[in-house]
Amino acid sequence: MVRQLSARAQVIVAAAATCGVAVLAAALTLMPSPAAAKARSKRPKRKRKKNDKNDSLSSRGSRLTRPALPYMGGVLEGFAEPYDATTGKGVILLAVAENKLCWPRLKPRVEAALKQIPDWTANYGPMDGCAQLKAALARFLDRRIIRDERPRVVSDHVSCAAGAAACLNNLFLSICEAGDSVLIPAPYYAAFDADLGAICALKRIPVRLRQGDFALTRSALDAAYAASGQTAKALLLTNPHNPTGRCLTEDELRLAVGWCESKKMHLVSDEVYALSLLKGDAFVSLGRITKGALGDRRHVVWGLSKDFGMSGLRFGCVWTQNDRLRQALGTAAMFGCVPGVCQAMVTELLSDDAFCDDYLRANTVALRLSCAACTAMMDSLSLPYYVPDAGMFLWCDLSSLLDEKSWAAEARLYDQLRTEIRVVLTPGEAQHAVSPGWFRICYAFVGRDVLDAALSKFQAWVEKKRQRA
Ligand SMILES: Cc1ncc(COP(=O)(O)O)c(C=O)c1O
Repeated sequence: MVRQLSARAQVIVAAAATCGVAVLAAALTLMPSPAAAKARSKRPKRKRKKNDKNDSLSSRGSRLTRPALPYMGGVLEGFAEPYDATTGKGVILLAVAENKLCWPRLKPRVEAALKQIPDWTANYGPMDGCAQLKAALARFLDRRIIRDERPRVVSDHVSCAAGAAACLNNLFLSICEAGDSVLIPAPYYAAFDADLGAICALKRIPVRLRQGDFALTRSALDAAYAASGQTAKALLLTNPHNPTGRCLTEDELRLAVGWCESKKMHLVSDEVYALSLLKGDAFVSLGRITKGALGDRRHVVWGLSKDFGMSGLRFGCVWTQNDRLRQALGTAAMFGCVPGVCQAMVTELLSDDAFCDDYLRANTVALRLSCAACTAMMDSLSLPYYVPDAGMFLWCDLSSLLDEKSWAAEARLYDQLRTEIRVVLTPGEAQHAVSPGWFRICYAFVGRDVLDAALSKFQAWVEKKRQRA
């Protein structure tokens, strides 16, 4: 039998009732988890190096000192020195999956919603979302993401936290013990390593998606499960997928459900790109798969960072029918809740059907245009890429531009683009690509004019490189 909640989740639920939030958060950072402490006591004692600056931190605290992304340097450079179209100077950052294309349309609606702030927003309330918010979210998830004839999402079954990353952290903290394995179809979103590793201390085992079409197969799931020593606790899907932009088919979702059922594993579906669709009806939510539907071991994550281009708002939610898990999530939300003012704003925004219809339609048009600009450039250079169904990125095979087939050569190509034309892409190694030379181009992080500038620079650079070769 799989235990539903980790020992730590039980401690969180109990401890939060008796001690202060700040004390508990500090304790989590400074103290090893019970499982880690037990494992450590069995290990032979290592001599600590003198003057080790990390001495005062726990192993968890030390992990948190590491950058969340291996290519963080390029991202920070892009934040510090963004491209200036008038001077042509600065860094064009195409390594962050964020959609800035429709903010001008969204901003006035957000500002209007913030004009009237209800009094309750200044007070304590349910940390994982007030009743009005959960009701609006349940309706929104049903209508737009699950898209079934009859409503499925009960508002009490939704739990919110400060972003999808916080939801994933709290969820895995509650269903896994430190050292457990989670299977993730690969390539995968680079920050999952930190999201699952930094605090939860989970092993991430890649499930190798099929070469060519990136489909999820039973043999890949079996191989990854074997690699986990047949002990994996959960399968984490991203649908639509990051970095390929592919939507899982209904058959693949059924396979995942049945396979997890047979192993008594949790199935988590991260659906943060569910509404960023390039092809109208390609997406099917895990929430729609009813047959053999895993009951309380099935969890769906969504948020406003991607589909509504508001990663700075920090809004995410989990839909799960697992009562005890929601109890744990509700308490864990104390350490990263959605502030009351944001809850009120999101409630109003998601309840405005006419606005959401209009916004999502315009968003799809804008994403399609930027994506088409990228694919046209790749086609003109005869560089292969995966044709996406959704998302805000293009998964590109630049291996023909490597000076040799190695990860070091991929890192060199990343650096050449960063320093010579000042364009930053997401390198494949950080995303667990199967072979060197794959890069993710995040085409919605910048407006069309800046994207066009980046694509022209890239095109000219590749043509020059080919002439020299
Ligand atoms: C698949 C996936 N999940 C989660 C996140 C993080 O979302 P949030 O900003 O809401 O924490 C990202 C961000 O890129 C993502 O791509």
